[in-house]
Amino acid sequence: MVKADSVASNSPVVFHINGEKHSVDAGSKVDARTVLADYIRDVANLKGTKVMCREGGCGACTVTARVIDPATGSEVVKSVNSCLTPVLSCDGWDISTVESLGNKHEGYHVIQNRLVNFHGTQCGYCSPGMIMSAYSLLEAKKEIEMEDVEKNLDGNICRCTGYRPILDAFKSLAKDASSDLKQKCSDIEDCATCPIKQANGNGVCGGKARAVTQNSLKLSSGEEWVTASSLEGALSAAAQCNNNATGYRFVAGNTSTGIYKNEGPFQTFIDINGIPELKKTVVDDNGITIGGGATLTEVINLLQDASKTAGLEYGKKIVSHLERVANVSVRNNGTIAGNLMIKHAHQDFPSDVFVILEAIGATLKIASSKSKLFGIGKKIAVEESKPLSMTEFLATDMKGKLILSVHLSKLDGYHYRSFKITRRYQNAHAYVNAGFLLKVNKTDKTIEERPRIVYGGISSSFIHASEAEACLQGKSLLEEKTLQDVLQALEKEVKPEGGPLEAAPEYRIKLAKTLLYKTILEIVGEKGGDKLRSGATDIIRNTTKAQQVYDTNESETNLYKAVPKYEGAIQVSGEAEYTGDIPIQPNELFGVFVQSTVAVADIKDVDASEALKIPGVFRYITAKDVPGENNNMKFNFWPSKTIEPVFATEKVSYHGQALGLILATTKEVAERAAKVVKVTYENIQKPIVKIDEAIEKAKNEGTLVQNTFGTFSTKPAEDIKVAHTVSGTMRFGSQYHFYMETQTVVCHPREDGIDVHCCTQWIDHTQNTIATVLNIPTNSINMQVRRVGGGFGGKISRNTFVATACSVATWVTGRPCRVILDLETNMTMIGKRLPYRIPYEVGFDENGRIGSLKVDLICDTGYSVNDPDSFVALMHIQNVYKSAGWEVVTSYVPTNTAANTACRAPGSIKAVALLEWIMDSIAYTLKKDPIAVRQANFISTGDPLIFGAPTYERVNLIPEMIENMKTESDYEARLAAVEKFNQENRWKKRGMSVVPVRYPIDYFATNLPASVAIYHMDGYVAVSHAGIEMGQGLNTKASVKVLQTVAHALQVPMDRIKIKPTNNFIGCNAFPSGGSIASEIVCYSVMRACEEIRENLRPILEKLENPSWEKLIADAHAAKVKLTATYTPTAKDDIKGYDVWVLNVTEVEIDALTGEYKIIRTDIYEDVGKSMSPGVDIGQIEGGYMMGQGFWTTEKIIHDEETGKLLTSGTWDYKPPECKDVPEDFRITLLRNTPNPHGVLRSKATGEPSVDSAFAVILAMRNAIAAARADIGVTDWFDMECPVSPEDIAQLCLTAESHLTLQ
Ligand SMILES: Cc1cc2nc3c(=O)[nH]c(=O)nc-3n(C[C@H](O)[C@H](O)[C@H](O)COP(=O)(O)OP(=O)(O)OC[C@H]3O[C@@H](n4cnc5c(N)ncnc54)[C@H](O)[C@@H]3O)c2cc1C
Ligand code: FES
Ligand code: FES
Repeated sequence: MVKADSVASNSPVVFHINGEKHSVDAGSKVDARTVLADYIRDVANLKGTKVMCREGGCGACTVTARVIDPATGSEVVKSVNSCLTPVLSCDGWDISTVESLGNKHEGYHVIQNRLVNFHGTQCGYCSPGMIMSAYSLLEAKKEIEMEDVEKNLDGNICRCTGYRPILDAFKSLAKDASSDLKQKCSDIEDCATCPIKQANGNGVCGGKARAVTQNSLKLSSGEEWVTASSLEGALSAAAQCNNNATGYRFVAGNTSTGIYKNEGPFQTFIDINGIPELKKTVVDDNGITIGGGATLTEVINLLQDASKTAGLEYGKKIVSHLERVANVSVRNNGTIAGNLMIKHAHQDFPSDVFVILEAIGATLKIASSKSKLFGIGKKIAVEESKPLSMTEFLATDMKGKLILSVHLSKLDGYHYRSFKITRRYQNAHAYVNAGFLLKVNKTDKTIEERPRIVYGGISSSFIHASEAEACLQGKSLLEEKTLQDVLQALEKEVKPEGGPLEAAPEYRIKLAKTLLYKTILEIVGEKGGDKLRSGATDIIRNTTKAQQVYDTNESETNLYKAVPKYEGAIQVSGEAEYTGDIPIQPNELFGVFVQSTVAVADIKDVDASEALKIPGVFRYITAKDVPGENNNMKFNFWPSKTIEPVFATEKVSYHGQALGLILATTKEVAERAAKVVKVTYENIQKPIVKIDEAIEKAKNEGTLVQNTFGTFSTKPAEDIKVAHTVSGTMRFGSQYHFYMETQTVVCHPREDGIDVHCCTQWIDHTQNTIATVLNIPTNSINMQVRRVGGGFGGKISRNTFVATACSVATWVTGRPCRVILDLETNMTMIGKRLPYRIPYEVGFDENGRIGSLKVDLICDTGYSVNDPDSFVALMHIQNVYKSAGWEVVTSYVPTNTAANTACRAPGSIKAVALLEWIMDSIAYTLKKDPIAVRQANFISTGDPLIFGAPTYERVNLIPEMIENMKTESDYEARLAAVEKFNQENRWKKRGMSVVPVRYPIDYFATNLPASVAIYHMDGYVAVSHAGIEMGQGLNTKASVKVLQTVAHALQVPMDRIKIKPTNNFIGCNAFPSGGSIASEIVCYSVMRACEEIRENLRPILEKLENPSWEKLIADAHAAKVKLTATYTPTAKDDIKGYDVWVLNVTEVEIDALTGEYKIIRTDIYEDVGKSMSPGVDIGQIEGGYMMGQGFWTTEKIIHDEETGKLLTSGTWDYKPPECKDVPEDFRITLLRNTPNPHGVLRSKATGEPSVDSAFAVILAMRNAIAAARADIGVTDWFDMECPVSPEDIAQLCLTAESHLTLQ
């Protein structure tokens, strides 16, 4: 056994969770890789903590840890990604999970209360993580400021809310909370304190943490876990492993496993977190020496303090950079040495820490063991290396060695600056990072010694720009020639390398130059040109502010008041149950898919023998085990155009396709086994993964398929004389739904068939498909959906992929089975939003009126054509405009990728964007105001429609909304200010845009029944409906609100109403919840069911005088009155469609040198009819907008063109927006006085229209880019391919080396 030293061995690892002691000993099932999240959920059985990415990238798993700092002995409170923390490294920890803060019995913590009352939950899957991040911050800091909140949530992704309500909720607890936030809190009753504090009796949390004890634990897995509390112990343990074939791994924060997941296997794990020497910091006359085991958070705090010391002022700049490394929870645990060791092992890793330290000239010391011979218990001597530069360290063999410390010297007369350019502002690795250190003469700006010019993200070997360094030495930065020479030196030596995930080489070369140029502009200061000075600064993202305007003056009832979400409280406390939280059964099996590793090929052979030998593996199931039809899509909207097999048989059609399912006793065993199933392929072909290539191929082969929706056209208008024609192609990428709850299914065998618990948006489809796949009658399947952790369309038809496989597993084994997709499998196996190419040609007159438009809506369906959304594009293509002389064709092309599917605002997002793009291009051509061009084309009542009804019979609200917006958003003045700003600044540019949206809601289906039942004993009410609550507030709106109205006269107390899970009994034959309409239809069904009961009760009510609710129900029951009712809408129900109107005004700022940007302000005006729940509606609007913004900006899907593999398959490379991406000033106005005569309770749907309006960001960016181009005399119209990243912006600004000047 490996020993850390001559002391304790095989003692259990002991820690506390929510005050309860947990002990893990040698005999337990925990192995070295078991993470805290799984222990919390599966052993401690606390399901409130959620797990999604397992990469430290989403924050769902955040918990609070109190640990003892080994150097100071004091307690540190921090947030932790429990998905990255090995449970064995928790020795001595005191851990709090969301359950400890509050619950329905003991009351809720103030943080939970605030999140509910600020409407900060939708699907609720991110909420426990959000709560624990905020709780950790408050416990660690006690007094917080608003900016702390925005920085603190940098690792927590919420796909539903758009962050604003979450930020507001937590900011309301800040000492500088704005007056409107304080005002909002005045109505909220916070409970006094959290249960933990009460239980402790002293008003404080924690108190159970203790220092680690040295230990060596031999695990039942055969691995060893060594906890070292001294350098000697760690080095001795490492040395004893030197001869082991599988070696050892030092474990610090273990966060690197979020990036490099497959390192090892290792025999021995040496936990070095308890070593005081690695945590020691010294500030002296020479500078600051920081222990290698200091976490990045500790480094930030140390440098923040040290920067007050003369010579260490630069620490502040390092702090700003480090605050953008990873995210708070990763930084709380990830160490400086761990980061440097990642760089050591993977020299292409764009480590910010390395770049900063190398630029500043930091050195490090290494500790190794002097002795050559080791024996159990033998003492060893530790040797300290001489100081090594960072580059020397990279070349050092680190076997058996530890990074002891990092030293930063005091510097006088130096200018230091560093940069990090990323796809997303927070929690994203760098495209390129850079650090510069220049000793500058204060008067003539001469560089007095060789500067340090360091880059990351260029290539694994390129660190210093040596030629540029040599070029600058001794030169004055005031000389234009110096600048030009150094830029040319960079041109010569910067040679970017890397694959498709890296930014383009040209951009990285550009960044290498522009970042140095920015630094030079900063040094030159006022001696440079006035207009150029904007190049010196970064884009600064200020703390966000927001405003929500809606009608509150409602006299009728409470009906239209913003009430907290129905299940908000149980979501923020972790009490809300999701499918994956269903308790594990004793004989349950976990299923993990075996996926294809090629895209197009024949399957020659599958050999699962090695996998089946692994202890705990039960079975490998394939298509041969499918009792019925091997097809997931038989019951889709367009019955099985292409069969999408449960498990591929002879051929594979895309990389990541399901081939089989390994069933094992645990997830970990199943995952390990799935990796060793050997599949041999033949006839492997190069796949087509890009729509352009697919179109080209289809055109060459004459197979570009026009889909069933055909060609649509309208007659030209006689009064429009086409004088100009503009043509182009709009290019749109894909988008991953990024629901926080991945596809999950739990199946239990039952006497009457099978119980299926899953997170589908469409139970009917899932039920029917399972029935055909299992070849059993539909009534043998009992489906239940409690709630869904976000769907966004991705769980409409695609949930079957998991549901069928899992039900086959249960059917053939007779055992309960569970499949929870990990993020990578979810992203690679399941299709996404359909990419589009839309060639167009538009003809218009001198006033900008469109006289002709030819459009081909070509979508990329992926390998099958089951879910094309071009019919929705057709419904929306007209947006708010007339359509004279239009011809619209809908086509699709297949690619060798997963079959694409609906994603929030499917089809419409591109259709609206196309028309808005065209409007701006017309305005540009005619040099007219873009609003005036839009006005010239606005649709009016009676105008022809290109799709659906022959003529438009509703009223266009947009003209009036534009007029109001102009005053309310100070439009003209802001536009003038933007122009002035652009004239005065060469390198920062601003742009504004206005996007109107008409979102037709047509009740294309009505089958969403609901049942209401009143129990006679106490008058309590249960509601069940066929809608799926996935965050859209369906239960809040549709049930509670409706009951509130219908039962108002009867005085039913609201707390007597409970909404039951959706099942396929009440939800028999139900339509999917999607298209924004489920809330309203369910609402309607509940209302009609309530009306029936009210009618039943009327005779009893008339007999009694002011009866209590209980008396009424008791008497009614005694009189045999029916106290239940079910309503199923049918074709007879007169539910009419309507339009939702949205106007989005957005202002952005870009940095023309780097392409970075920020959204300065977004105003969304939306007509929601009479909002039933403003909190829910505003949340839907904000969340929808942010999902749209993500689609247009940060979210890019990239496949490997050779293999077809999805490369952006995790949080490291795929970037949905985070809270610093929210517009700095975010204003939502719900239109007043626009009740909807056709909608349920006069309201309108809100889930999707604002998604389409987010295209305003692209048009505003386009205007800003156009302003940059205009400065170099380029004024022609230019195309943009979406999503638009900083790389695209910088490249479109056309900045050339010759433009980088001082004057
Ligand atoms: C989501 C996410 C985002 C990130 N973003 C960024 C980013 O933007 N920029 C950036 O630069 N980094 C980023 N990182 C990397 C992050 O900074 C590192 O994961 C972290 O610093 C590693 O420290 P650790 O203590 O967790 O190391 P561990 O994971 O514990 O260890 C990493 C390696 O270092 C070895 N090791 C640890 N300590 C020592 C020591 N003292 N001496 C010798 N060997 C040691 C270990 O054996 C292991 O091989 C990100 C990480 C994650 C998970
Ligand atoms: S699950 Fe831990 S950060 Fe995503
Ligand atoms: S509420 Fe945040 S992800 Fe759904």
